[in-house]
Amino acid sequence: MAKVGVSILSADFKKANEWLSEIEKGKPDMVQWDIMDGKYVPNRGVDLENIPLLRKKTKLFFDCHLMVEKPREYFHVLKNSGADSATFHVETVKEPDRVIEKIRSLGLGAGIAANNMIPVEKIIPFLGKVDIALVMTVEAGFGGQAFLPSTLEKVHVLRKLIDEQRFDCEIQVDGGIDLETGRKCVEAGADILIAGSFIFRQESISEAIKKLKSL
Ligand code: DX5
Repeated sequence: MAKVGVSILSADFKKANEWLSEIEKGKPDMVQWDIMDGKYVPNRGVDLENIPLLRKKTKLFFDCHLMVEKPREYFHVLKNSGADSATFHVETVKEPDRVIEKIRSLGLGAGIAANNMIPVEKIIPFLGKVDIALVMTVEAGFGGQAFLPSTLEKVHVLRKLIDEQRFDCEIQVDGGIDLETGRKCVEAGADILIAGSFIFRQESISEAIKKLKSL
């Protein structure tokens, strides 16, 4: 069984009441907010104002994926908006240890991410300090991209290390996740599948979530 996070990057917030109840029926483990500054990635992600609005409507876990050059600038507003965790990209900060401490000091779960071109070795030193190790399975920035099979090796490496060291860290994968690529990721050792396009493309959002959870 896999854990599943629903990326609402491409969701139409005018129809939030429709898709939120459908998402809840699928019983996902989290909702992922893709936050982008237009600098770290050439795109704008979700509108931060939607986080507190949706917080009032659901108890689902809010996982925030910061695709930004200066993640430290976001932690307080995310905490005040009702977020539960924050994941930053390792190469965007000088001292990842300090950033992880800062996230935790706010009572948020902490995640560290390796974008497609970032060697997995860059996040290995922090596995014992974070709750989530995010392996991007596309180049961060846009939903609906094709899965990059080359990223599976990173999942294998992390799985082996986390098991050997008994770290309390879950491997999350994000980008181009559907039933086929999700299965490959689970076989490689991923714990949490983040999917957006696949879920919102299906006739039934809740069924799509349940199918991913069954992998
Ligand atoms: C990329 C984003 C996407 C989004 C979901 O920066 O992080 O990966 O979450 O993408 P799809 O639509 O491929 O599931």
